[in-house]
Amino acid sequence: MVEQSLVYIYLFLCSILFISHTRSAPVINETSSVPLLLLISFDGFRWDYPDIYKLPHFDSLQKRGVRVKHIDNSFATVTFPSHYTMVTGLFEETHGIVANSMYDPVLKAVADISTMNDTKWWSQNAYSQPIWVSNQLASDVLQRRSGVIDWPGSSVPINGYRPYEYLDFDITRSLDSAFRQILKWFREPAASRINFGAVYHAEPDVTGHLHGPISPEMNETLKKCDDYLGGLLQMIDDDDYLRQNLNVIITSDHGMHDVEKTHRIFLVDYIDKSLFTAYGGRAFANIFANKASDIDRLYANLSNLTDYEVYKKSQIPVEYHYKSNVRVGDILIVGKVGHDVIIPGDETYAHIVGDHGYDNRAESMHPILYAFGPAFYQNLLAEPFRNVDLYPLMSHVLHLKQRPTNGSLSNVKHILVDFRPEMSSTILVIICLTLVALSAILFTVCAWRHSRQLVYVPPDKVIVEYHRLNNQEGAFDYSSEGEDDIDNEKL
Ligand SMILES: *[C@@H]1O[C@H](CO)[C@@H](O)[C@H](O)[C@H]1NC(C)=O
Ligand SMILES: *[C@@H]1O[C@H](CO)[C@@H](O)[C@H](O)[C@H]1NC(C)=O
Ligand SMILES: *[C@@H]1O[C@H](CO)[C@@H](O)[C@H](O)[C@H]1NC(C)=O
Ligand SMILES: *[C@@H]1O[C@H](CO)[C@@H](O)[C@H](O)[C@H]1NC(C)=O
Ligand SMILES: *[C@@H]1O[C@H](CO)[C@@H](O)[C@H](O)[C@H]1NC(C)=O
Ligand SMILES: *[C@@H]1O[C@H](CO)[C@@H](O)[C@H](O)[C@H]1NC(C)=O
Repeated sequence: MVEQSLVYIYLFLCSILFISHTRSAPVINETSSVPLLLLISFDGFRWDYPDIYKLPHFDSLQKRGVRVKHIDNSFATVTFPSHYTMVTGLFEETHGIVANSMYDPVLKAVADISTMNDTKWWSQNAYSQPIWVSNQLASDVLQRRSGVIDWPGSSVPINGYRPYEYLDFDITRSLDSAFRQILKWFREPAASRINFGAVYHAEPDVTGHLHGPISPEMNETLKKCDDYLGGLLQMIDDDDYLRQNLNVIITSDHGMHDVEKTHRIFLVDYIDKSLFTAYGGRAFANIFANKASDIDRLYANLSNLTDYEVYKKSQIPVEYHYKSNVRVGDILIVGKVGHDVIIPGDETYAHIVGDHGYDNRAESMHPILYAFGPAFYQNLLAEPFRNVDLYPLMSHVLHLKQRPTNGSLSNVKHILVDFRPEMSSTILVIICLTLVALSAILFTVCAWRHSRQLVYVPPDKVIVEYHRLNNQEGAFDYSSEGEDDIDNEKL
C-alpha cells in the first residue's frame, strides 16, 4: 500500500540520518588525549601523476579518505618557500623565504639551501610560526610534542622554538626508515610521545629534473614512492592506536614541467654583468641592481623578451603575493612555463630536462593532496584549495586556536567531518522529531482511511444476510407479487 511504504521510507531516512551521524565516532580502544596528525610531503609530486601512472596505494587513499583534485600553490613554486608556506599558512612575501637562494639587503647576507640553516632566514618577523611550534605552544601543552624529519627549517630554531624531536635533512635516509622513526615517536610512552609529525621526501623531484615528468624513470621512482606509502599504510593498520587516532595528510610543494635546451636564456647575454647580482633561478630570478639608477636600463634590456615576464618590483602582480619583501629583487624575471633563465655562475641547468618555479596558476605546477583519518570524510574527491589553507586545516585537526595567517578554514571545511552539512545534534534531533511526527500523522491517516474502507459499502452492494429458511418462508407467493404489481400500476 502506498501510504504504508511512505511510512517505511520515512523511518528508513530517519535511521540513515542517525547512523550517518554516529559514524563519525568510531569505537576506539585507546583514545589519544590530543589529536594526532602526520604531514608528509613528496617533493615535486605533480597533481596528475596518479592519473598518468599506476599507483595503487595512492589510489586507495581516496577510498580511505579524501583526494583533493589539486592544490593551488603560491608563487614562487619552489621547494623551500613552498614548504614554509605549507607549515605557516603565510605567503612568501610574509614569511620571507622567497627562493631557494636569496639575498637580504637588511642582513647583507646571501643564503642557499645549504646555508639556510640559520634562524635569521626563518625568523624575519613574528608572523612565522610553523605548525610544529603552534602545536607545542597550545594550552594543553603537556600532551603535545612535535617531531619533524628532513622538512626544510625543521632543525632551525624559529622565533625561538624548535620541534621536540627532529632529524636534520639527510639525503641518504630512506623514506621507509623515516616512516618507521616518525611512527615510533607517535608510540612513545605518554610522557614523551609526539602528537604531530612531519616527514619530507626529496623524490619524485630529483627524477623530474633529471628525466622529466613523463619518463620511464619517473614511472620507476613513483612506483617506489607508492611502495613506501603501502608500507606506511600497513604499519598504521597493524596498530590499533594509530589506525583509530592518526590523521594523515599527504601532499607536495609543486609540480614539474618539461624544459628544452632551446627554451633557456642566460641573463648575461642581455644585461651587463657588472651592473647587477641575481638570485633564485632557474624558472625565475630576483635581480638586484648595484645602483638604483641602473634599474630602468636593466629593465629596458629585458622587457621585450617574449617568453619571459619581467617586472620592476612595484609592478609584480598582486596575485603572486610576492613583492612585499626586501628579499625580492628590484627586477623579477619569470619564465613562461617551460622557459628557464640562467643567472651568472649557475651551472645546475646543464642536466635539467624538467623544472618548476613558474607562475603558480599554471596547471603543471600544482601538487597533490590526500588526507585520511578520523577528522576527514571518506571516499571523497574534493575541490581544490590553496597551500596557505593547509595551516588552518592542520590547526583545526589538531584542535588549536586559529592564528591569523593568509589561509582560511572556510576553504577546507568541505573535507572535514566536523562540518558535514548541518549535522549538528540540535538540527538532527529536530529533523528526526519532524520525521517521527510526520510518520505518526501519515500512519493515523492511513489507519483512518483503511477503517473507512472496511465499513463503507456502495448502495448496490448491500450485504445480504442469510439464515436457515423454514418450510413456509421462501416459498414464492405469486398472489402477493401480483398484488404488488397491481398496486404499482394503481400508482
Ligand atoms: C580492541 O582491543 C581488543 C583487545 O584488547 C581487540 O580484540 C579488539 O579487536 C579491539 N577493537 C578494535 C575496534 O580495534
Ligand atoms: C610504467 O611501467 C609499467 C611496467 O613496469 C608499465 O606497464 C606502464 O605502462 C608504465 N607506465 C607508464 C605511464 O609509462
Ligand atoms: C649550517 O650548516 C653548515 C654545514 O652545512 C655548518 O658548517 C654551519 O655551522 C651550520 N650553521 C648553523 C647556524 O647551524
Ligand atoms: C643593454 O644591451 C646592450 C646591447 O647588448 C648593452 O650594450 C648594454 O650594456 C645593456 N644595458 C644594460 C643596462 O645592461
Ligand atoms: C629590446 O629592447 C632593447 C632596449 O630597449 C632594444 O635595443 C632592442 O632592439 C629590443 N629588441 C627587440 C627585439 O625589440
Ligand atoms: C598575510 O598575513 C599576514 C599576517 O597575518 C598579514 O600581515 C598580511 O597582510 C597578509 N597578506 C595578505 C595579502 O592578506
